[in-house]
Amino acid sequence: MKIYVPLDSAAKALGADDVADAIRREAAARGLDVQIVRNGSRGMVWLEPLVEIATPEGRIGYGPVSVEDVPALLDGKMASLGPVDEIPWFARQTRLTFARCGLIDPLDLDEYAAHGGLAGLRRAISMDRAGIVQEVLDSGLRGRGGAGFPTGIKWKTVMDAAAPQKYIVCNADEGDSGTFADRMIIEGDPFTLIEGMTIAGLGVGATRGYVYLRSEYPDAIAILTQAVKIARQRGMLGHDVLGSGQAFDMEVRTGAGAYVCGEETSLLNSLEGKRGTVRAKPPLPALEGFLGRPTIVNNVISLATVPVIFEKGAKHYADFGLGRSRGTVTLQIAGNVKRGGLFETAFGVSLGEVVNDIGGGTATGRPVKAVQVGGPLGAYMPVSRFDAPLGYEEMDQNGGLIGHAGLVVFDDSVDMLQMARFAMEFCAVESCGKCTPCRIGAVRGVETIDRIAEGAPGAIDLLTDLCETMKDGSLCALGGFTPFPVMSAVTHFPDDFATHREAAE
Ligand code: NAI
Ligand code: SF4
Repeated sequence: MKIYVPLDSAAKALGADDVADAIRREAAARGLDVQIVRNGSRGMVWLEPLVEIATPEGRIGYGPVSVEDVPALLDGKMASLGPVDEIPWFARQTRLTFARCGLIDPLDLDEYAAHGGLAGLRRAISMDRAGIVQEVLDSGLRGRGGAGFPTGIKWKTVMDAAAPQKYIVCNADEGDSGTFADRMIIEGDPFTLIEGMTIAGLGVGATRGYVYLRSEYPDAIAILTQAVKIARQRGMLGHDVLGSGQAFDMEVRTGAGAYVCGEETSLLNSLEGKRGTVRAKPPLPALEGFLGRPTIVNNVISLATVPVIFEKGAKHYADFGLGRSRGTVTLQIAGNVKRGGLFETAFGVSLGEVVNDIGGGTATGRPVKAVQVGGPLGAYMPVSRFDAPLGYEEMDQNGGLIGHAGLVVFDDSVDMLQMARFAMEFCAVESCGKCTPCRIGAVRGVETIDRIAEGAPGAIDLLTDLCETMKDGSLCALGGFTPFPVMSAVTHFPDDFATHREAAE
């Protein structure tokens, strides 16, 4: 009997290791021949640990499974969720980037290849550089780290730059609160990232790549390091990638825990062994990046999406989506929500559909009050904006941003003044200190919000003014985007700010 128990960190945090041990013990005690496969997560975090048993009818799911459930599970007496592929939450997704995540043993390269892996790389090998870059341009892929810059244009800039050495740098410093897509794909399907980086290397003429992976993700570091080793042993990386005669190799580098090192120039400084402070742009990293050479800096999900674009063709990918947001968005649904997890779907789904329908509303059962979209620098969206479709331009028109596509849900017990204060405090703590509007502004912002709470007259106007200065005068997104959560809280939830004033009076 083949039983799948996820090795994903979220599943482990919910007891997956103990469940795997219990299955092993119980099976041995019964003399059952059980093979336990540690797969990645299917993304349904609310069902973790989600155990799957392979049967002629498909992989049947059980979850959440506790150690106490294991005897009943092996007796066939535990209530099942049916075939995992048919669980409605899973079945309604469009899984392109995450197609293999949860399906396979993350470190089994043969299984990877059996499920479509390496097909994209083989196709890319048959193309010339311009053809590879054109394919990415045609797919409409935009940077999934948050800024949504067209990936193909970035690649073309690097391809056209003349230099003796170019680099591919993967930004895996996933610091946004409530986001976990980078971690989940690295833990569940690391070869897809390696394949994407290799295609990028072949496309722009870079022979070296680095993954800058945050130290807070020890499992992802271990799995990716092992996957790189296997890829090298099996000829997927090295001086002769899959017998193409072309070279590409990569290594994993660990960050030290600063949020601002997710900003690309700060990341490059850190990668070079320097202090992680932001560099002024221009020059763009695409022209003067790692060690001053032309460098692609792409987010994990951007790079991990490249293989499926080459496997199925740019048109297939571009056929999904809305307006200028092509393909799929890998939503990370978190916070006070009934069904949290990773949900991949074509752009265009509405915010309300994600929170209420897919997410199932709040876990507490109380009414939803707000959802923060796009991490700690994203706006708090009120229920009145739940018709907003998820697309880069569409969210912008609604005063928000998609960012790295994390959504954190709050019920009506949340105090939005405190959330605005938290955003400013986060900026003050994480500021690299290079520019004044962010370094000083964030500290003054916290003080000003405290004064609003005390009912000080004119303090809201002062906060508004300060946010304008931070927005216009900050060097990077940390200082420049912190006004989004702060001002969205002030604008959409004025009562929370008025209540404090009244309480003080
Ligand atoms: P940006 O708009 O300055 O740049 C976007 C990307 O396009 C950069 O890589 C830049 O170098 C590149 N680029 C711009 N013009 C180019 C050209 N002509 N040719 C080639 N490349 C070009 O945005 P930035 O500051 O890199 O990112 C801000 C975003 O990061 C925010 O939207 C925020 O949501 C997101 N973010 C994500 C986090 C995460 O954990 N994933 C954490 C913090 C922020
Ligand atoms: Fe550093 Fe903040 Fe300025 Fe960004 S905005 S460069 S984090 S001080």
